[in-house]
Amino acid sequence: MQANDIKRVLIAGAGTMGQQIGFHCAASGCDVVFYDIGQELLDNALKRVEKLAGTYVKSNRLTREAADMALQRIRMTVDPEDAGKNADFVSESIPEDPELKGRLFAQLNDICPEHTIFTTNTSSLKPSMFADATGRPERLAAFHFHDLRVTNVVDIMPHPGTSQETVSLIEAFAEHMGLLPIMLKKENNGYVFNAMLMELFRSAQSLAAKGVASVEDIDRAWMGVMHTPIGPFGIMDSIGLDTVWKITDYWANKLQDKNALANAEFMKQYVDSGHLGAKTGRGFYRYPDPAYAQAGFLEKKRQE
Ligand SMILES: NC(=O)c1ccc[n+]([C@@H]2O[C@H](COP(=O)([O-])OP(=O)(O)OC[C@H]3O[C@@H](n4cnc5c(N)ncnc54)[C@H](O)[C@@H]3O)[C@@H](O)[C@H]2O)c1
Repeated sequence: MQANDIKRVLIAGAGTMGQQIGFHCAASGCDVVFYDIGQELLDNALKRVEKLAGTYVKSNRLTREAADMALQRIRMTVDPEDAGKNADFVSESIPEDPELKGRLFAQLNDICPEHTIFTTNTSSLKPSMFADATGRPERLAAFHFHDLRVTNVVDIMPHPGTSQETVSLIEAFAEHMGLLPIMLKKENNGYVFNAMLMELFRSAQSLAAKGVASVEDIDRAWMGVMHTPIGPFGIMDSIGLDTVWKITDYWANKLQDKNALANAEFMKQYVDSGHLGAKTGRGFYRYPDPAYAQAGFLEKKRQE
């Protein structure tokens, strides 16, 4: 099979990520079927996908006509048989539970044609955790998306049993859809970008938790040298401090790393006060006009 033989894509899980991935595949010319466990979920997903189509039009990524054609290539079903029987490619975005993912893939393995490629969008699991359960480990790899509204970067991560043919096909399919594939040679927690981002967060949190420099100055240092519009604490605010705290706390406890435990404590103060970042109007900064985005932030500063 070549990338342009992938005509029918099954999106398993029509939530936040499934909607984005499914629409992007449809916009790239594939017929897309969404499979989820409830009709109401699918009805809501369709509304959100229609809204997403509007954002592609507004940002000139698609003409209105092309967006409408993409929407016509999309259908929704709660019937796994109907969803899987003609699929060439599966992109799974169901909750982050290796057993659940394994069970779904096992079910799809019985339904889908032999050539169908299975991919998982998992954020924090490794495909090897459920590769055997899928019944077709050689045709399974992680194909991990970021927010498609802001980036076309995707990670491709095989597990030790993934065939080279599968990896090459996913890479070619990503390029065919205008994406920028980042190829992992082996399984790694956090893929590539997220792994680097977590290290940046870890350093920034330690500098602030130890009182080495203020949150604002740590962001200024990053923004001023790297010429970015946002620094590590601004990024944490945009992700949500509850989410960042959970990840920090999980790894700190798992590794019993003193420095990371202190970072988790530092983050927890914000979470306990209900300051969860941009979504609550306050985190390290106040929203909607955070200080780091205001003119003069990098010129500093006597006003602090
Ligand atoms: N949200 C993100 O920013 C993000 C980014 C990258 C990767 N991911 C990963 O993508 C996956 C999905 O995340 P999400 O944020 O889209 O979750 P979500 O909760 O928004 O959506 C999950 C969907 O899966 C459905 N579902 C549950 N069990 C199912 C089953 N057995 N069969 C079919 N559908 C089922 C749910 O009804 C729901 O609609 C996770 O593995 C997550 O780690 C998330």
